[in-house]
Amino acid sequence: MTPMLVRDRIRSQPVKSAVVAVTFLFVVFACSFVLLPSNEAASPSSGNDSAPALRQAAAARGLLIGAAVHTRFLGEPAFVRILSTEFSQLEPENEMKFALIHPRPDSDPQPFDFSGADALVSFARAHDMKVRGHTLLWHRQVPSWITKGVFTPSQLADILHNHVTTVMSHYASKVYAWDVVNEAFNDDGTMRHTVWYDQPGIGFAGSGTKYLEQAFRWAHAADPEAKLFYNDYDAEPINPKSDAIYAMAVDFKRHGVPLEGIGIQAHVDLSFDKPATLASFRKNMKRFADLGLEIHITELDVRLHDGSAAALSAQAKIYGEITKACLEFSACKVIQTWGVSDNHSWIPSEYPDLGWPLLWDANYQKKPAYAAMLDALTRPR
Ligand code: XIL
Repeated sequence: MTPMLVRDRIRSQPVKSAVVAVTFLFVVFACSFVLLPSNEAASPSSGNDSAPALRQAAAARGLLIGAAVHTRFLGEPAFVRILSTEFSQLEPENEMKFALIHPRPDSDPQPFDFSGADALVSFARAHDMKVRGHTLLWHRQVPSWITKGVFTPSQLADILHNHVTTVMSHYASKVYAWDVVNEAFNDDGTMRHTVWYDQPGIGFAGSGTKYLEQAFRWAHAADPEAKLFYNDYDAEPINPKSDAIYAMAVDFKRHGVPLEGIGIQAHVDLSFDKPATLASFRKNMKRFADLGLEIHITELDVRLHDGSAAALSAQAKIYGEITKACLEFSACKVIQTWGVSDNHSWIPSEYPDLGWPLLWDANYQKKPAYAAMLDALTRPR
């Protein structure tokens, strides 16, 4: 080896080190975009790169933006990218419901199946999202071992008590709010006849909301930190159903029943965009807020007959109106949509011929409704 070459090698060392250091920094920087769980490290899903994501715009207004999610969608990269960058809250669309999380009788060695809901909770934690639990007492998605079983009210009460306690304990400190009760009233404000109320019920048949009170007390005992909600649909404006919910809330507040908030589902259509309806929606929120309750818009979607530009723009207006109305009340702390993109919405299966209800279309492109919501969140006050 000549002295010349040795000198060259020695001289090139600092250069090589600098190249290695710069490469290393570049890789770390690039990885932070790919790997960091927080949305704040990731770029927006598409469109204007300088616009804030929904979750950031909402956070600036003290709001959480949620989405209902099923684990099977987590295999789609576009879905995951949007969910983790745009939403600050996740709610299992189905996997915490009785039939899915408690599919077998308590006599079975494995009565519970937490796998789906656990996966969603892990995803949420990895992406700095809060989790809302849905739901403990509902007349739908009840497993056949209950609907086909024969139980006395006291046996059914034990089953529900154990269900509430086991599920809420499993998710204590991971689920910050629960829809303890879902859809217990008929549209005319009377109690819905269900397996939990009076068929045969858990022991309070004919006593109105007493059985719901019992469920809220069990829920509070199971996880005293969780915020407990009553959740229902078609109760956005003032009407017989929202009157019944309000009367229950007044009664519960008076008797110290641990009810912390009302979930307003907001599965609506274009008929929601009427001045009288929107005014009534605000009046309804105000009376619940005045009781000291939180309001969460829990299942927002706006179903359409077609995906025409006119329909999408009318839909966008409603998304904007609902967002603006929520922002008027400090009690309104969450806006959650019932899904992320039109290809995975429940609407076509529940309402034949209707669809196009969400903020992203079936190809994961932002719809006018997205812009309307972002605009409502970012407009100067
Ligand atoms: C729906 C889910 O989206 C569907 O996948 C399922 O088949 C039925 O339930 N109100 C509620 C939600 O509280 O739990 C419902 O979710 C939609 C209506």
